[in-house]
Amino acid sequence: MSATENIEREKQRAAEAAAELVQNGMTVGLGTGSTAAYLLPPLAARKLDIRCVATSPATSQAARELGIEVVSFVGLEAPAHLDMTIDGADEVDPAGWLVKGGGGAHTREKAVAAASDRFIVIVSANKMVEKLTPPIPLELAEFGLAGTLARLGPVRLRDVTHSPDGGVIADYTGSFDDPRALADWLSAVPGVVEHGLFPPEMVAEVLVGRGDGVERIPVTG
Ligand code: A5P
Repeated sequence: MSATENIEREKQRAAEAAAELVQNGMTVGLGTGSTAAYLLPPLAARKLDIRCVATSPATSQAARELGIEVVSFVGLEAPAHLDMTIDGADEVDPAGWLVKGGGGAHTREKAVAAASDRFIVIVSANKMVEKLTPPIPLELAEFGLAGTLARLGPVRLRDVTHSPDGGVIADYTGSFDDPRALADWLSAVPGVVEHGLFPPEMVAEVLVGRGDGVERIPVTG
Protein backbone atom coordinates (compact mmCIF):
# COMPACT_ATOMS: atom_id res chain seq x y z
CA MET A 1 0.00 0.00 0.00
CA SER A 2 1.38 3.44 -0.93
CA ALA A 3 1.75 6.24 1.64
CA THR A 4 -1.16 8.08 0.02
CA GLU A 5 -3.39 5.00 0.18
CA ASN A 6 -2.48 4.57 3.85
CA ILE A 7 -3.41 8.19 4.63
CA GLU A 8 -6.75 7.77 2.88
CA ARG A 9 -7.40 4.54 4.78
CA GLU A 10 -6.60 6.30 8.08
CA LYS A 11 -8.97 9.17 7.27
CA GLN A 12 -11.69 6.65 6.49
CA ARG A 13 -11.11 4.66 9.70
CA ALA A 14 -11.33 7.84 11.82
CA ALA A 15 -14.49 8.92 10.01
CA GLU A 16 -16.13 5.50 10.44
CA ALA A 17 -15.35 5.55 14.17
CA ALA A 18 -16.87 9.03 14.47
CA ALA A 19 -20.04 7.93 12.65
CA GLU A 20 -20.56 5.39 15.47
CA LEU A 21 -20.66 8.21 18.06
CA VAL A 22 -23.81 9.75 16.56
CA GLN A 23 -27.07 8.80 18.28
CA ASN A 24 -30.74 8.97 17.38
CA GLY A 25 -32.34 12.37 17.89
CA MET A 26 -29.11 14.36 17.60
CA THR A 27 -28.52 17.55 15.65
CA VAL A 28 -25.13 17.01 14.01
CA GLY A 29 -22.68 19.37 12.31
CA LEU A 30 -21.01 17.96 9.21
CA GLY A 31 -17.52 19.20 8.35
CA THR A 32 -15.92 19.88 5.00
CA GLY A 33 -13.00 18.24 3.20
CA SER A 34 -11.83 14.79 2.20
CA THR A 35 -11.90 13.31 5.73
CA ALA A 36 -15.36 14.68 6.51
CA ALA A 37 -16.52 13.24 3.17
CA TYR A 38 -15.67 9.74 4.46
CA LEU A 39 -18.10 10.33 7.35
CA LEU A 40 -21.19 10.64 5.20
CA PRO A 41 -21.66 7.08 3.80
CA PRO A 42 -21.32 5.26 7.17
CA LEU A 43 -23.52 7.88 8.82
CA ALA A 44 -26.19 7.53 6.14
CA ALA A 45 -25.98 3.73 6.37
CA ARG A 46 -26.99 3.85 10.05
CA LYS A 47 -30.37 5.36 9.04
CA LEU A 48 -30.61 7.32 12.29
CA ASP A 49 -33.30 9.86 13.04
CA ILE A 50 -30.99 12.90 12.98
CA ARG A 51 -30.89 16.33 11.41
CA CYS A 52 -27.65 17.86 10.23
CA VAL A 53 -26.09 21.26 9.61
CA ALA A 54 -23.53 21.37 6.77
CA THR A 55 -20.42 23.57 6.83
CA SER A 56 -20.30 24.02 3.05
CA PRO A 57 -22.52 23.72 -0.01
CA ALA A 58 -20.43 20.71 -1.13
CA THR A 59 -21.08 18.84 2.12
CA SER A 60 -24.74 19.80 2.06
CA GLN A 61 -25.18 18.38 -1.44
CA ALA A 62 -23.23 15.18 -0.72
CA ALA A 63 -25.19 14.55 2.50
CA ARG A 64 -28.57 15.12 0.85
CA GLU A 65 -27.66 12.78 -2.01
CA LEU A 66 -27.16 10.06 0.62
CA GLY A 67 -30.54 10.77 2.19
CA ILE A 68 -29.24 12.67 5.24
CA GLU A 69 -31.55 15.50 6.35
CA VAL A 70 -29.73 18.84 6.17
CA VAL A 71 -31.29 21.92 7.76
CA SER A 72 -30.37 25.56 7.26
CA PHE A 73 -27.99 27.31 9.66
CA VAL A 74 -29.05 30.77 8.50
CA GLY A 75 -31.26 33.18 10.41
CA LEU A 76 -33.27 32.95 13.60
CA GLU A 77 -34.97 29.68 12.67
CA ALA A 78 -31.64 27.82 12.52
CA PRO A 79 -30.68 25.49 15.38
CA ALA A 80 -28.83 27.55 18.00
CA HIS A 81 -27.38 24.42 19.53
CA LEU A 82 -25.95 21.22 18.05
CA ASP A 83 -25.21 18.03 19.94
CA MET A 84 -22.10 17.12 18.00
CA THR A 85 -19.98 18.27 15.07
CA ILE A 86 -17.51 16.03 13.24
CA ASP A 87 -14.86 17.59 11.00
CA GLY A 88 -11.31 17.14 9.72
CA ALA A 89 -8.27 19.35 10.29
CA ASP A 90 -5.05 20.27 8.53
CA GLU A 91 -2.89 20.08 11.68
CA VAL A 92 -3.43 19.13 15.34
CA ASP A 93 -0.83 19.99 17.99
CA PRO A 94 -0.28 18.13 21.32
CA ALA A 95 -2.43 20.65 23.24
CA GLY A 96 -5.36 20.24 20.85
CA TRP A 97 -4.94 23.43 18.83
CA LEU A 98 -6.06 22.97 15.24
CA VAL A 99 -5.30 24.55 11.90
CA LYS A 100 -8.35 24.31 9.66
CA GLY A 101 -9.45 25.88 6.41
CA GLY A 102 -7.39 24.06 3.81
CA GLY A 103 -10.63 24.02 1.84
CA GLY A 104 -11.48 27.60 2.76
CA ALA A 105 -14.56 26.60 4.79
CA HIS A 106 -13.18 27.59 8.22
CA THR A 107 -15.62 30.45 8.92
CA ARG A 108 -18.66 28.21 8.70
CA GLU A 109 -16.76 25.34 10.30
CA LYS A 110 -15.90 27.47 13.33
CA ALA A 111 -19.46 28.81 13.68
CA VAL A 112 -20.85 25.27 13.63
CA ALA A 113 -18.18 23.87 15.98
CA ALA A 114 -18.75 26.73 18.43
CA ALA A 115 -22.47 25.93 18.58
CA SER A 116 -21.82 22.26 19.37
CA ASP A 117 -21.69 20.44 22.70
CA ARG A 118 -19.01 18.10 21.35
CA PHE A 119 -16.63 18.90 18.51
CA ILE A 120 -15.02 15.68 17.25
CA VAL A 121 -11.95 16.04 15.03
CA ILE A 122 -11.11 13.21 12.62
CA VAL A 123 -7.63 12.98 11.12
CA SER A 124 -5.06 10.65 9.62
CA ALA A 125 -1.92 10.24 11.74
CA ASN A 126 0.17 12.54 9.52
CA LYS A 127 -1.96 15.52 10.69
CA MET A 128 -0.62 15.18 14.26
CA VAL A 129 2.29 17.63 14.62
CA GLU A 130 4.58 18.79 17.43
CA LYS A 131 4.08 22.42 16.46
CA LEU A 132 1.55 24.18 14.21
CA THR A 133 3.03 25.77 11.11
CA PRO A 134 1.94 28.42 8.60
CA PRO A 135 0.01 28.95 6.42
CA ILE A 136 -3.01 29.85 8.56
CA PRO A 137 -6.18 30.13 6.44
CA LEU A 138 -8.03 33.44 6.52
CA GLU A 139 -11.36 34.73 5.31
CA LEU A 140 -11.22 38.49 4.67
CA ALA A 141 -13.91 41.05 3.94
CA GLU A 142 -13.73 42.30 0.34
CA PHE A 143 -14.61 45.79 1.63
CA GLY A 144 -11.36 47.53 2.60
CA LEU A 145 -9.26 44.58 1.46
CA ALA A 146 -6.12 46.60 0.59
CA GLY A 147 -6.02 48.07 4.09
CA THR A 148 -6.62 44.69 5.73
CA LEU A 149 -3.73 43.18 3.75
CA ALA A 150 -1.46 46.06 4.77
CA ARG A 151 -2.33 45.52 8.46
CA LEU A 152 -1.76 41.77 8.25
CA GLY A 153 1.65 41.74 6.55
CA PRO A 154 2.62 38.36 5.10
CA VAL A 155 -0.55 37.10 3.39
CA ARG A 156 -1.09 35.17 0.16
CA LEU A 157 -4.45 35.47 -1.58
CA ARG A 158 -5.82 32.17 -2.86
CA ASP A 159 -6.85 31.95 -6.50
CA VAL A 160 -10.28 30.55 -5.62
CA THR A 161 -13.85 31.79 -5.69
CA HIS A 162 -15.12 33.77 -2.72
CA SER A 163 -16.61 31.93 0.23
CA PRO A 164 -20.39 31.30 0.18
CA ASP A 165 -20.60 34.34 2.49
CA GLY A 166 -18.71 36.57 0.05
CA GLY A 167 -15.35 36.52 1.84
CA VAL A 168 -11.92 36.52 0.20
CA ILE A 169 -9.94 33.36 1.01
CA ALA A 170 -6.27 33.88 1.85
CA ASP A 171 -3.46 32.47 4.00
CA TYR A 172 -1.33 34.14 6.66
CA THR A 173 2.22 32.99 5.92
CA GLY A 174 4.12 34.63 8.79
CA SER A 175 5.98 32.42 11.27
CA PHE A 176 4.69 32.12 14.84
CA ASP A 177 5.43 30.31 18.09
CA ASP A 178 2.29 30.87 20.16
CA PRO A 179 -1.00 29.90 18.43
CA ARG A 180 -3.11 31.73 21.04
CA ALA A 181 -1.20 34.98 20.58
CA LEU A 182 -1.56 34.73 16.79
CA ALA A 183 -5.25 33.77 17.06
CA ASP A 184 -5.97 36.74 19.35
CA TRP A 185 -4.09 39.11 17.06
CA LEU A 186 -5.76 37.86 13.86
CA SER A 187 -9.20 38.11 15.51
CA ALA A 188 -8.48 41.73 16.38
CA VAL A 189 -7.42 42.87 12.88
CA PRO A 190 -10.29 44.81 11.26
CA GLY A 191 -11.32 43.15 8.00
CA VAL A 192 -10.48 39.61 9.14
CA VAL A 193 -13.78 37.72 9.05
CA GLU A 194 -12.29 34.54 10.50
CA HIS A 195 -9.02 32.64 10.77
CA GLY A 196 -8.29 28.91 10.78
CA LEU A 197 -6.80 28.56 14.30
CA PHE A 198 -9.25 26.61 16.49
CA PRO A 199 -8.46 26.55 20.25
CA PRO A 200 -8.44 23.38 22.39
CA GLU A 201 -11.42 24.72 24.40
CA MET A 202 -13.50 24.11 21.29
CA VAL A 203 -12.41 20.48 20.84
CA ALA A 204 -13.83 17.51 22.76
CA GLU A 205 -11.91 14.67 21.17
CA VAL A 206 -9.53 13.87 18.32
CA LEU A 207 -9.96 10.52 16.54
CA VAL A 208 -6.69 9.62 14.81
CA GLY A 209 -6.59 6.89 12.19
CA ARG A 210 -3.37 4.88 12.68
CA GLY A 211 -2.92 2.00 10.26
CA ASP A 212 -6.01 -0.16 10.74
CA GLY A 213 -6.85 1.26 14.17
CA VAL A 214 -8.21 4.49 15.61
CA GLU A 215 -6.70 6.29 18.59
CA ARG A 216 -9.13 8.40 20.64
CA ILE A 217 -7.52 11.44 22.28
CA PRO A 218 -9.71 13.46 24.66
CA VAL A 219 -8.91 17.18 24.68
CA THR A 220 -9.39 18.93 27.98
CA GLY A 221 -8.52 22.44 26.71
C1 A5P B 1 -11.92 22.70 5.14
O1 A5P B 1 -11.96 24.07 5.02
C2 A5P B 1 -10.93 22.30 6.18
O2 A5P B 1 -11.03 22.90 7.42
C3 A5P B 1 -10.76 20.81 6.31
O3 A5P B 1 -11.47 20.28 7.39
C4 A5P B 1 -9.32 20.56 6.49
O4 A5P B 1 -8.65 21.31 5.51
C5 A5P B 1 -8.99 19.09 6.37
O5 A5P B 1 -9.22 18.69 5.05
P1 A5P B 1 -8.97 17.22 4.58
O6 A5P B 1 -9.85 16.34 5.42
O7 A5P B 1 -9.36 17.21 3.14
O8 A5P B 1 -7.52 16.93 4.79
